[in-house]
Amino acid sequence: MQPIINNQISNLKESSTLYINQLALKLRNEGHDICHLGFGESPFPVPELMQAALRENVGRKQYISGCGLPDLRQAVEIFCKKNFGYNYSCENIIIGPGSKELIFQLLYLLEGPLMVPAPSWVSYGPQAKIRSKNFIPITTNIKNGYRLQAEELNKICSIQKSQQKILILNNPCNPTGSVYSSNELRALAEVCRKQGVIVISDEIYALINFGELPFQGIASFYPEGTITTGGVSKALSAGGWRLGYAMIPDELSEITRSLAAFVSETFSCVSAPIQYAVLAGFENFGSIRNYVELCNNIHKEAGKFLHQRFIEIHLNCPEPQGAFYLFPDFENFKALITSRGIKSSEELSKRLLEDIGVALLPGSDFYMPDEFLGVRVTSVDYDGAKLMHDFSITGKEKPLMYTSLFPRLAEACERLEKWLR
Ligand SMILES: Cc1ncc(COP(=O)(O)O)c(C=O)c1O
Repeated sequence: MQPIINNQISNLKESSTLYINQLALKLRNEGHDICHLGFGESPFPVPELMQAALRENVGRKQYISGCGLPDLRQAVEIFCKKNFGYNYSCENIIIGPGSKELIFQLLYLLEGPLMVPAPSWVSYGPQAKIRSKNFIPITTNIKNGYRLQAEELNKICSIQKSQQKILILNNPCNPTGSVYSSNELRALAEVCRKQGVIVISDEIYALINFGELPFQGIASFYPEGTITTGGVSKALSAGGWRLGYAMIPDELSEITRSLAAFVSETFSCVSAPIQYAVLAGFENFGSIRNYVELCNNIHKEAGKFLHQRFIEIHLNCPEPQGAFYLFPDFENFKALITSRGIKSSEELSKRLLEDIGVALLPGSDFYMPDEFLGVRVTSVDYDGAKLMHDFSITGKEKPLMYTSLFPRLAEACERLEKWLR
């Protein structure tokens, strides 16, 4: 029998980040020498305190309330108040199997078009498509580090007919490593308030912020209209544990009621041992703060190193301030690249993998025009556990040390430089 599949799903392709990771690992396993700048996973081990708590709680086998362990919801409330100044209350915090699933469920239940800055994370578009939602990437400018500006948002909002609109703002940003300033957030908040925009502030990288300024989220300027999502996948290196949270303002608590029902009819609850282990992490955050800081210092140096090398080889690229991504473009080499028969960022990434074994993602996956030769690069191709040790010994890095600390990143840049000659 020929199965008949929902059109919205049968047209989906596998998430390109997961695809490139599998392909790069397969090529590596087959003996190819691959520099893997394609996949955004923390290279560090989960903090020992959380691993110990997981071992202790492995016997917990009960279903937990769909919204999450009450103590964990409260710990998230306290953590976010202390670290980011937020005022979400635990009744409006929902624990889910990763923030990705919670973002999907929020997009599913909220009416209205979805706007995102371009470039933005690869999964927002497909998630909107599953729900047949109007998806609107908003053009941004490299001069602003690809951060969405209030005028750009206002212009797009003004031509939307729908009374309710949704904006996903990812801060710090995957794919650019940019972090919004408080002035930018304040200005965006004003537009959102005026235009009836519900913001989903995707703050999965909030703790990986290494620029000059402390991290601030848009909820500090637009508390009544911002749903903030986060989790333990990035700064606490526990992506495979699958635990994230969504925090909804009191003013939008009707969303909490709908989301709680949705959760109860879908994933039921996040694995109980994982919830207890993460609870230990939040309750004892003081003792893992050093871990987070050390990882951040390494992310900062890796980002700085790649950025310097990209500029040296004449790629355009905003300097990363957070997360572990960079978004360089090869527009300065357009003539050379076109003469090699390459006309899109997708063809460019394929050729870089085939010709020189450098895996990265095409800018078109991040909603940039096909012909724009931008790519998303991750800066985490190193042995995290070893580097935590080596880095602690050498301390703040000197440029000469970079090549020995990040040999795969250095190798990738050498190969790119030669390929561009
Ligand atoms: C921008 C962004 N948002 C959300 C996620 C999903 O995180 P989680 O592991 O909490 O589902 C990721 C993971 O790669 C991401 O890069």
